[in-house]
Formats: sequence, C-alpha cells, structure tokens
Amino acid sequence: MKTEILKIDSINPDMYKIYVASATIKKKGTVIFPTETVYGLGADAFSSEACKKIFIAKKRAMDNPLIVHIASLKDLELVASNVSSTIIDKLKKLWPGPLTVILKKNSKIPDTVSGGLSTVAVRMPAHPVALALIEDSNTPIAAPSANLSTKPSIVTGIDAISEMYGRVDVIIDSSHTFFGLESTIINLTGEIPAIVRPGIFTYEELKPYFDNIVISNTARGINEETIAIAPGMKYRHYAPDKSLYMVKNDSLYEAIFNSELSNELIAVCSTEMSKKIKGRKILLGSERNLYDVALHLFDSLRVIDELHGRLAIIQSFNEGGIGLAIMNRIRKASSGNVIESFEQFKKIIEASDF
Ligand code: TXA
Ligand code: MG
Repeated sequence: MKTEILKIDSINPDMYKIYVASATIKKKGTVIFPTETVYGLGADAFSSEACKKIFIAKKRAMDNPLIVHIASLKDLELVASNVSSTIIDKLKKLWPGPLTVILKKNSKIPDTVSGGLSTVAVRMPAHPVALALIEDSNTPIAAPSANLSTKPSIVTGIDAISEMYGRVDVIIDSSHTFFGLESTIINLTGEIPAIVRPGIFTYEELKPYFDNIVISNTARGINEETIAIAPGMKYRHYAPDKSLYMVKNDSLYEAIFNSELSNELIAVCSTEMSKKIKGRKILLGSERNLYDVALHLFDSLRVIDELHGRLAIIQSFNEGGIGLAIMNRIRKASSGNVIESFEQFKKIIEASDF
C-alpha cells in the first residue's frame, strides 16, 4: 500500500493538509494522526469496511473494540444512546481531554468498532490536529493506538512512519504527542463509575466529578477476571522483544545495578536513580515530575531493543496521581515479571540463555 506522509504543525495545523487527510477518511481509507496522548490509527467510525482496515493494519484481534473520537459534544448522540444530562454536564467540563467514557452504544455504530459489545468507548481529544481532522472528515473517527498489536504505543511521527509505513493510507507527522501515555477509560454503564484503564486523567482529578468513582482491578495491572469489562486487557501489551523485568523497590534496584552483573543489563530508570547506579541506562525523567516519566515511557520501551544487554530492568514508581497509569503500563510491558529479591534476580540471570 502506498502511504502518504503529511507533516503538520501541532498547534497551527495547515488546513490544506488536513483536507488531504480528511478526504482519505471520507474515501474509507486509514489515517494515522496525533492526539494529545498517543498517535491513533483512524477510519470512519460508521463504516465497518473502513474500520476493518484498522484491524488489518495493526494486526489487532477483531474482538478488541476501538475508541470513537468526536470533535464536538453534539456528535455524542450519533455514537452513544441514552446519555443522561448529568453525564453530559460533566463531559462539557472534562472534554476535550485525555478521558474516554464507556456508554451504551448507538445502533449505528458497527459491531466491528464495538467488538460486538452493547457499549462504545468515546472521547474528544484535546489536540488541534485531531480535532481539525475529525471536524473536516464530517464523521466520528474510530481509532486505537497506532502501534502494531503488542508493541508500545507510538508517540512520535518518526516511530509512526518506521512502524506503519506501507500499512495505512496516510501518516500525519506532528512530532511528539503532548502527554506520551493514553487516555483514562471510565465505564459509566454500571451502577458505580469505574476506571478500567488508568491514564493521563488521574483518579484524584476525576474524583470531584464522580465522587463514588472506583479503580477496577484491571486498572491496577494484569487481571483476567474483568476481561468482559475491558476486552483489550487480555492481550499482550507494550512489550519490547527483549525480556523486561520490573524491580519491586529502589534499594533492590540499586543492589542489582551495583552488582558485578550490571554490564549484562539495561537500566530503564529515573534521572535520580541513574546517578546511583552503574551500567547502560535509558532515562525516563525526574521522579519529581512523573508527567515527564509518562512522556518518555513508550519511547524508552522502544529503545530497549536497539541496545546491547541481556535483559532490561525497569524501576517501579509511586502509584499516586499519574503514577497509577505509569505502573499499569510498566506491569503490562513486563508481562507481570517482578523481581522481588536479589536471589530471584540471580536465578533469572542463570536461566537466561544467550
Ligand atoms: O489515548 C487513547 O485512548 C488512544 C488515542 C489514540 O485516543 N487510544 C487508545 O486506544 O489507547 P486503544 O485501542 O489502544 O485502547 C483502547 C482500549 C482497549 O483496551 C479496548 O479494549 C478498550 O479501550 N475499549 C474500547 N471499547 C470498549 C468498550 N466498549 N468497553 C470496554 N473497553 C473498551
Ligand atoms: Mg493500544
């Protein structure tokens, strides 16, 4: 497939280039576009035929539903049904932004988009290019993250091109996204609002709007029980090809990287931690600003496979605020592999055969 690359400024999008991309959406083609969180791989949300191309391009399982992106609140009724005025009032305040809500779906949304569920995930992104594209396409755009299935999400135009060139019709390159980590998903179809995937919008920030909101077990890490609520959770996610382990606490992390085995390893850690350890390091940012860690997390996971070293070992972070989303992605990227003691670390090294 021939892919057209359009370089578009994030803040002042060139409307002629947006027009080229929206014409592709109208022709039932696929467009990779930036959002404030991560890049999305979009198609016309009302066209089953167009949305099937998303699954093929990403090699995504057909039962894993897509988020529908809208550019104005009046479009909500086109994709969802029976949304209460209380919820609409809250969304007026919370959107546009990195928050996805699960609602009862409108019957016009094809099963391809909703994975056959009776619900639909909807969000209004806060990115000038995304909003201009949706508006100009004159239709809601269904879009998962733009990465190939199982790979880390894509946060730069360059990574979109290197991973997806030839697999989609258009790639918009608007440099780095603003946050680098996905939206928070909340389920509003149950009795109690529940965070099913933590993201940029934190629990603490949502609490004033939904005072009984809970964090579901899926949101904390890998948990197979709640697959029915968040179907995507059962799939492998964000994983580098090289083995990645998370370390339970900072003192064990320091002990591992100050041992004689440190030059076999790649450290993925904060700038503060990097000053205390030896060896090859990928820096995530400062622990004092976890938004910086979020911004660099997926980039860092992509770099792991480019470096020498037997295995990569990532630090764990405090789970308050944005830390909950960071730890959720780290747990998934490391497939739940946690190092809890130095003895266990030695066993892992002995068992790894290179
Ligand atoms: O920041 C984001 O949310 C990005 C940008 C592009 O908007 N999108 C994104 O999409 O992360 P994706 O497909 O990578 O992740 C969406 C998750 C999947 O795990 C999917 O299973 C879940 O949302 N999902 C979608 N529709 C759902 C529904 N109706 N009920 C429950 N989970 C749903
Ligand atoms: Mg994804």
